[in-house]
Amino acid sequence: MRIIIAKSDELAEGERKMFTVGEKRLALFNVGGEYYCIADICSHDDGPVAEGECDGYTIECPRHGARFDLRDGSVLSFPAIRGIPSHPVEIMNDEITIDIE
Ligand code: FES
Repeated sequence: MRIIIAKSDELAEGERKMFTVGEKRLALFNVGGEYYCIADICSHDDGPVAEGECDGYTIECPRHGARFDLRDGSVLSFPAIRGIPSHPVEIMNDEITIDIE
């Protein structure tokens, strides 16, 4: 299912937006003009990963420092050993949409 999560001009480069869809906590990031959406729940211990610091495509969970790739949610460092869900983003008619079940 594809849903609208933001207007295409809502986030400047480097900005993020946290939101929920049903009970899922998600976050949208604008990195260099490209948009990425990941779950806002760390695979290590359910931390608020989207509140972490970003460096390029990398985000670091503020709780214990695990790092993930914003492009696909893949894990980059311990203490996490699994990635986090990511959702394909598409811009349609000036609206940012994601694919989600
Ligand atoms: S909860 Fe994210 S690194 Fe532990």
